[in-house]
Amino acid sequence: MPIRRNVYSLSSTGPRITSLRQGIATMKSRSPSDPTSWIYQANIHGTYDQPPNQQVARTWNQCQHGSFFFFSWHRMYVYYFERILQAAAGNPNLALPYWDYSNPAQRALPIAFRQPSGASNPLFEANRAPGINAGAQLPAAPVSHAQAFAFVNFSSASNSGLSFGGRRVARPVHFSPIFGQLENAPHNNVHGLVGGSSGLMNDPNLAARDPIFWLHHSNIDRLWKRWLDQGGGRSNPVNNDVWMDTEFTFFDENGQPVVMTGQDILDTVGQLNYRYDDDPANVPLVPFAAVPAAAVAGSGTGSSGDEEERRPLGESESVDMIELGAEPLTVPVEVQGEAADAVAEAAGAEVVENRVVLSLEGIQYDENPGVSYEVYINLPEGQEPHHQSEYFVGTLGFFALEPHGHGAEDHERPSGKVDYDITANVRALAARGEWGGGAVSVTFVMSGLLPPPETEAEAAEVPVQREPGGQPRIEHVTLSTVPSTEE
Ligand code: C2O
Repeated sequence: MPIRRNVYSLSSTGPRITSLRQGIATMKSRSPSDPTSWIYQANIHGTYDQPPNQQVARTWNQCQHGSFFFFSWHRMYVYYFERILQAAAGNPNLALPYWDYSNPAQRALPIAFRQPSGASNPLFEANRAPGINAGAQLPAAPVSHAQAFAFVNFSSASNSGLSFGGRRVARPVHFSPIFGQLENAPHNNVHGLVGGSSGLMNDPNLAARDPIFWLHHSNIDRLWKRWLDQGGGRSNPVNNDVWMDTEFTFFDENGQPVVMTGQDILDTVGQLNYRYDDDPANVPLVPFAAVPAAAVAGSGTGSSGDEEERRPLGESESVDMIELGAEPLTVPVEVQGEAADAVAEAAGAEVVENRVVLSLEGIQYDENPGVSYEVYINLPEGQEPHHQSEYFVGTLGFFALEPHGHGAEDHERPSGKVDYDITANVRALAARGEWGGGAVSVTFVMSGLLPPPETEAEAAEVPVQREPGGQPRIEHVTLSTVPSTEE
């Protein structure tokens, strides 16, 4: 069985990477009208190319972002891409490696994708963020999946990003602006940081043309499995018929169209014949027997009645856009003192009935900023922001929001929303007397690529982006509470 391995465990001149290079070179040599070619495959994700006819048009621009189809659609997509790659390399055991950027020693773009630089290396791509092909590293906070893994529910109500896997929808949506937790971080962050403000990876219509896209998504797919391994009630939305039965079309290694649904991809070993090198040994193949719907948190249908009830607590005061820059920015949020106290009390309760939610609403930009932001709550003045402190609530990345409103689906505004569950922060800060009295603030700290640490002299030669591109901005910051869904 093909095993998807950590790319850092593979020699960049060894047989596995050599076979990967051969497969990609073959796909790149094929005509873009061939469904098994590099370009056609990338266009299935998204493209600016004009499709030659209606039939082709129906198979392009299919990626699913901002809904609970994010994980399942990308698993299907990467699965068929891998089969095409195996055939192209003439190696049935070839598997896509994964890039585990959560490991602090593996935050530089894998060496095989940077060297040799130039067209002789099918894994190299010049159109990436400044510095990344010279060994610049992804910053720690934006590549962490800790926030996402804390969520137990796979999906959330149609107006909510409070889930590991995204909001429920009634039908496929190419782009939609409310991101699930893992899609926001690390997924969107890695796209923006690797692409910078003008590279391929920052744009869903170009991203899959960069070979690193496929290792990024191999890792995202792996994180889905590692999340399930955490147990504690984490499970796939097998009781949701929309998720289980919606059909998506791809192409197999012979260029023939194939249709897949959620229920075809639940088990990578039994159904799709691949595994990861860190899949726990001897995990019994759990049959995905459906659990009675009522017992499953977040098993709604995605119909219009599926909305989460938010009780507003407070909102940023400014009527102007909150403009994010290179320097830390603190935004006050006006909260009634009594409400703030009540929330602190509720958050400190043994059984938390209401979660406290911080939302960034109306996220916009003219082009991908190419950096991420760390978000803090009540960070005291003069305090060094640190992502392992109790002030840290998460990160904000940029990807798959259509700038200028081109092609926004369903007349939705081209602006995004990210929700953070800050119940644990409020609980910790309240215990220290740093919450309450109506003084709540939110601080944004830019987080971009870091020069490689080797020597200072070398680092100075690796220029990284020092400020955001594309004018990232947010309409408002809101605080609210929402009833807990987990039993
Ligand atoms: Cu559909 Cu990482 O993108």
